Amino acid sequence: MKKKIILIGFMGSGKTSVSLLLSQKLNLPLYSLDQLIEEKYQKTIGQIFQEKGEIGFREYEIEMAKSLKDIDFGVFDCGGGVVLNKIILDYLKEKDGVIVYLKTSFSEIKKRLKNDTQRPLFKDIKKAKKLYHLRRYLYESYADLIVFTDKKKVEEVAYEIISQI
Ligand code: S3P
Repeated sequence: MKKKIILIGFMGSGKTSVSLLLSQKLNLPLYSLDQLIEEKYQKTIGQIFQEKGEIGFREYEIEMAKSLKDIDFGVFDCGGGVVLNKIILDYLKEKDGVIVYLKTSFSEIKKRLKNDTQRPLFKDIKKAKKLYHLRRYLYESYADLIVFTDKKKVEEVAYEIISQI
């Protein structure tokens, strides 16, 4: 059983809810990169995108991952874009981390995020769909384990992960 679990996947794939449940079930600390960035800079992700642009936000992500690299155990809830900078997952994977890709179809994501106003990269659905197709291969290439989430409850996804790592 691995003690360091890193969840990746597109926006709306369930990383935040699954990581919370995993951390409770496995009694492991939870590290949500986006939340830690918001707390550190006292700004929402939306504000950071507005003020620093996506590039500025990515720098914060790299910096945050670096600051977490020596942690031996925990559940890591990553933003959907962490696969854009290989160094982020390299940092998080140090100390025997297992990368779990929550794979979700775009139509399911669209349903889940239909009322979302918080995600700067999900405002334009056509652009989001393009991004989804560009990133699929990146998620797959980093994953040690792939779990499909369509039509599954958070509990089912968490159970599948626990039974396979
Ligand atoms: C992003 C995903 C978001 C957040 C930011 C950028 C992305 O996190 O990090 O808005 O590039 O996919 P979630 O995947 O938790 O929505």
